[in-house]
Amino acid sequence: MGWIIDLYRSPMAKKAVMAVTGLMLFGFVVTHMLGNLKLYLGPEKLNAYAHGLREIGEPFFGHGQFLWVARTGLLVAVGLHILSAWQLTQINRRARPEGYRKETHEKSTYASRTMRWGGVIILLFVVYHLLHLTTGDVHSDFKAGDVYHNVVSGFSNPLTSAFYILANIALGFHLFHGLWSMFQSLGLNGGRFNHLRKQFAVAFAVVISAANISFPLAVLTGLVQ
Ligand code: HEM
Repeated sequence: MGWIIDLYRSPMAKKAVMAVTGLMLFGFVVTHMLGNLKLYLGPEKLNAYAHGLREIGEPFFGHGQFLWVARTGLLVAVGLHILSAWQLTQINRRARPEGYRKETHEKSTYASRTMRWGGVIILLFVVYHLLHLTTGDVHSDFKAGDVYHNVVSGFSNPLTSAFYILANIALGFHLFHGLWSMFQSLGLNGGRFNHLRKQFAVAFAVVISAANISFPLAVLTGLVQ
């Protein structure tokens, strides 16, 4: 039994949890972005897509039930991702060698500090985003079932759009560093992998955040209305 506790406490196991849950969240962010591209195809397509999400799994699941299974998985992944990040921070703080190898230490602290603050901004954004476009609590003109209308009228407010843009820049940095570290934790590093994983991390971070930022910009410039 002791080895299970040792494994649970080891930084390696926590990094593996970060990597696996990070990969799940990455999968969500990619599919969510691809789905949102339907904004450019007009109200019928975007609304039909949102409706279709609730029909996944039918007839085995009832309307909207499978979505709740997916939401539960997502919530567990977010919870474990944050818990492991918190625990790794505590482990690092305890192991901090004062005044030792100052230069490399400062570098790694900079990266992890960016990750921590980026993570907090993304978490705050997601809470706001759910109240804005899922429940409509902080949306002044929310129409249940009309996702296209909610997105367009929501982004017509420049302050709201500015917050979405800032949060998605933070998401880009978080994805870049997160993907890069994920390959390391999963053992896909060293040799030619190092070059490939950097290119992969940059490409995905830029594409996802640029596409997400394009949505509020498209509404503000009148391209989508
Ligand atoms: C500008 C970029 C984005 C747009 C236009 C957008 C749009 C939307 C819309 C319209 C919904 C409601 C869908 C529905 O009720 O069917 C939604 C839900 C959601 N979004 Fe986003 N989103 C964006 C970025 C993000 C990002 C960056 C994240 C996460 C980091 C995120 C996480 C979520 C989550 C967790 C839900 C709830 C899904 C559910 O439970 O059904 N979104 N988004």
